[in-house]
Amino acid sequence: MTGVISPPKETEQVVGKPINRVDGRLKVMGAARYAAEIPQDNIAHAVLIQSIIAKGRIKDIDTSEAERAPGVLAVITHRNAPKLNSKTDGSMVEGKPGEDLVPLQSDEVFYDGQHIGVVVAETFEQAKHAASLVHVTYEEERPTVEIEQGLSKAYQPKQFFGEELQVQRGDVAKAFAEAEVKIEQTYTTPIEHHNPMESSASIAAWNGNQLTVYDATQWVIGTRNIVAHALGIPEESVRIISHFVGGGFGCKGYTWWHTILAAVAARLVGRPVKLVITRQQMFSSCGHRPPTIQQLTLSATRDGKLTAIRHVTTSQTSEVDECVEPCGLTTRLLYASPNLEVTHNLVRVNTGTPTSMRAPGEASGTFALESALDELAYELGIDPVELRIINHTDVNPQTGKPWSSKYLKECYQKGAERFGWSRRNPTPSSMRDGDYLIGWGMATATYPGYRSPASAKAQLFADGRAVVSSATHDLGTGTYTIMTQIAADVLGLPVERIEFKLGESSMPKAPVAGGSQSAASVAPAVQGAAEELRSRVIRLAIDDESSPLYRAAQQAISTENGRVFLKNEPSRGETYAEILQRNNLPVVEVEAIANTAASESQQSSDNKVVRICVGKNENSDWQQYAFQSFGAQFAEVRIHPRLGQVRVTRFVSAIDVGRILNHKTARSQILGGITFGLGMALMEETVLDQNSGRLVVRNLADYHVPVQADIGDIDVLFIDKPDPHISRMGVRGVGEIGITGVAAAVANAIYHATGKRIRDLPITPDKLL
Ligand code: MOS
Repeated sequence: MTGVISPPKETEQVVGKPINRVDGRLKVMGAARYAAEIPQDNIAHAVLIQSIIAKGRIKDIDTSEAERAPGVLAVITHRNAPKLNSKTDGSMVEGKPGEDLVPLQSDEVFYDGQHIGVVVAETFEQAKHAASLVHVTYEEERPTVEIEQGLSKAYQPKQFFGEELQVQRGDVAKAFAEAEVKIEQTYTTPIEHHNPMESSASIAAWNGNQLTVYDATQWVIGTRNIVAHALGIPEESVRIISHFVGGGFGCKGYTWWHTILAAVAARLVGRPVKLVITRQQMFSSCGHRPPTIQQLTLSATRDGKLTAIRHVTTSQTSEVDECVEPCGLTTRLLYASPNLEVTHNLVRVNTGTPTSMRAPGEASGTFALESALDELAYELGIDPVELRIINHTDVNPQTGKPWSSKYLKECYQKGAERFGWSRRNPTPSSMRDGDYLIGWGMATATYPGYRSPASAKAQLFADGRAVVSSATHDLGTGTYTIMTQIAADVLGLPVERIEFKLGESSMPKAPVAGGSQSAASVAPAVQGAAEELRSRVIRLAIDDESSPLYRAAQQAISTENGRVFLKNEPSRGETYAEILQRNNLPVVEVEAIANTAASESQQSSDNKVVRICVGKNENSDWQQYAFQSFGAQFAEVRIHPRLGQVRVTRFVSAIDVGRILNHKTARSQILGGITFGLGMALMEETVLDQNSGRLVVRNLADYHVPVQADIGDIDVLFIDKPDPHISRMGVRGVGEIGITGVAAAVANAIYHATGKRIRDLPITPDKLL
């Protein structure tokens, strides 16, 4: 077991402080460049042609008119595209294409919006015009559009990232038969699209056999591997750069084929090529959250103890790959029910392949589970918060492992207090403000505490500056800032003298910025690299007769503002810069890898780059404990009974994600998550035409996301207690948990306001009238 060891610096810590984003200035000045904005000489522009049928084949594709159009450099279709490798050939590649179907390899069409061609021209306008001159005729077949149409062919998928999807404990049927109280309901959620502000985009540039891609991605390493694999070239020949990403939410987690098509086009025309996915194309080119039908059955004793839970989820995937919305995984572990049955079914339909979207499974699954809990609370006449406390569990009920740290009861209590929950009259429609109905609802939030192996390099330069780098990402999440804070504290340097670099595949390896794991994964690596760097530089001084610190003990030394000195005699010391300069060292650097079982520390032959492995102790803790974040969501809605329009006037979120590295960026993560959840609850829905399988909703005029005017007062509270078993940093992730439970809290508040239980998202006014 490892405790949280305080870093070596005695002075005030920067970690935890709500400092401004270190990249904030670049962003507000427009100097932060996103993938599509990287200047390139002699750039050409690619436009995608996409299928307008959902199933069938291309009978003919006539490109002659497009090829003659002004400025056109190339038209690529399945007739002339090079062969590309898919992941399905069994090779071990770290990374995944968004879907297994390789575009432009055959005349088959599996969904509306499938890539069927690429036009490359001198300008974007010329490419777009030429694309309109490509004449395609199809042989159309009747597509399967809805889950219901494919139910007879439903099947049970096996796993979601290593987690079993079909789970049982105890005897559910027996418990239901003996139940004192039982709730059985069906909840449904629609197709949703991520719609980050920055749409996906790639610029591909070849230099001989070396390919550089500027890409909007949540995973530079995965993208490098998949691009190399698809093109059949060595990974060393590909460099992916992604310094800034304007939101991902999962749709940039895998490598979608437009990135590879940009590289294909660039090689073909011998120039850098820019390919930007349009907002309309975002609805078919990089995944979506699949719709779900969830049957939830709960049984309980009269005094509120759950005796059994059954959660049957049916969601859909495409005909060309498998993706599951794992709604029931959270249900396994949230409450202490002795009997449980979690089932996941999949139906293949003619859409693009779904993908992870903000808390895949937890966001949609908690809508059903936490709505059902509210229904049970009303059935029993028990307060919803109280009902959850009655069923609280101190161990993961599925594995029996204790939680690494869990402050869910504190979340309920602090959230309820801040919200004023004790003033709630539980009777539906009992609270009013003039003509308006007021409703208060709550739900539990939860998300796993994921982390993966990650590495970082720390360098100290002779001018006293430090540079720390890792192939991680900042999707607007705050990675640049929190990693800078960690390095500042360890090294004893002001934030301004540290530069944290990320987003290049050539940097030390880091995992996908998905699963809310970047802080938990990369922070220990940055901490470890910086600690080793500090200690090496101090040793240089201690071993040096001409240093004022000659023969001092490491532990007696403190560092602050770039100066190394004796704690008890601060006047005795010197700066990092002086130490390096006297030793004629332009730089000292250390690379650290964290969260891995590999235990060898190595030193390179030139004696400069040191690679160490940190966090070895944590790995034994990782076997013993269950890592999960928790929270409580409280919503107030205001509804006019004759208009049916719901305004969420107040929201309180109390969150336990371990130690908070920066209260400002962490709070922003939760604000964003709640906003996402409000969209899910009230607005977001992608609709397909029932007959043709074509997307009816494919722009932001029809796909509504909350804007500033839709957002009321949101209050975020953090428990901010370190997780003692995840790492010395004590930090779990803070991203996706923000959306979980939100739709249920809103739906429960709507029931409280109106007496109407809406089990079908989004809760639009028509459902309330
Ligand atoms: Mo997130 S949906 O794991 O990018």
